[in-house]
Amino acid sequence: MKLIFLGAPGAGKGTQAARISAALGIPAISTGDIIREAIKTGSPLGQQFKSYTDAGKLVPDELVVALLQDRLEKPDCQKGFILDGFPRTIEQAKFLDNTDLVIDRVIDIEVADEKIVKRMGGRRFCPQCQKTYHVEYSKPKKEGICDTCNIPLSIREDDKPETVLNRLEVYHRQTEPLVEYYKDKLAVVDGTRTPDEITDLILEVLKA
Ligand code: AP5
Ligand code: MG
Repeated sequence: MKLIFLGAPGAGKGTQAARISAALGIPAISTGDIIREAIKTGSPLGQQFKSYTDAGKLVPDELVVALLQDRLEKPDCQKGFILDGFPRTIEQAKFLDNTDLVIDRVIDIEVADEKIVKRMGGRRFCPQCQKTYHVEYSKPKKEGICDTCNIPLSIREDDKPETVLNRLEVYHRQTEPLVEYYKDKLAVVDGTRTPDEITDLILEVLKA
C-alpha cells in the first residue's frame, strides 16, 4: 500500500500517519521530520533548511526530492509507505510520476484555517521519537513529558502564530492544487473529528 497524506499544516497528517503506519505495518515518512533532523545536526544543509522552515516557506523542490529519494531506497519501503507532507508542489508530484512507484490512495485531511491556528498553539512533540501531542486534545500521561521516552516535550519553532499564518498561505497557494491533481485517487476525510474517529474513517477508505 502506497499512500499520500495531504492536508494543511496542523490538519493531523503526522498524528494519523503514525496510527495508520502501526495498523498497516508500513513506514510513515514525514519530510518535515527528516528536515528537522537535518536542522538538529547544524550542518550547512541543515542551516539552509532552517532559513526556509523558520519563515514558513517550502524548502526548494530539488533538495526535498533528494531527501525523499534517499529515504525511499531504504529496505523498509519495499512493502509500501505513507508519505506525510510530500508532495507539496506539482513539481514534487511530477517527480513521483517519473518513478515506477504507483500511489494507491491520496487521503486529504480537511480542517478550516481558524481551527488550525488554535491547534498549532497547543502542539508539543518529543524531540527524540517525534511523537506529537496536544496540551488539550492529545495529552501525554504526565504533563510535558513523552509517554515513550520519558523526556520533556518541545515546541516546534515554526508553530509561532505569525509563522503558522505564512504556512497556511503557502499551503493554499502551492499545495492545495494537488487536490485537483490527484482527484482520481483522492479520499477526503473530516479532520475536525476526534483522532480515533479519523483513523477509523481512513481505515474504512483503505478497505473499500
Ligand atoms: P511539516 O513538518 O510537514 O509541517 P506541516 O505540513 O506544516 O504539518 P504539521 O506537521 O505542522 O501538521 P500535521 O498535519 O502533521 O499535524 P499534527 O498531526 O502534528 O513541514 C514543516 C516544514 O518543513 C514546512 O513548512 C517546509 O518548510 C518544510 N517541508 C516539509 N515537507 C516539505 C516538502 N515536501 N517540500 C518543501 N518543504 C517541505 O497535528 C497538529 C496538532 O493538532 C498536534 O498537536 C496534534 O496533537 C493535534 N491534533 C491532531 N489531530 C487532531 C484532532 N483530530 N483533533 C484535535 N487535535 C488534533
Ligand atoms: Mg506533521
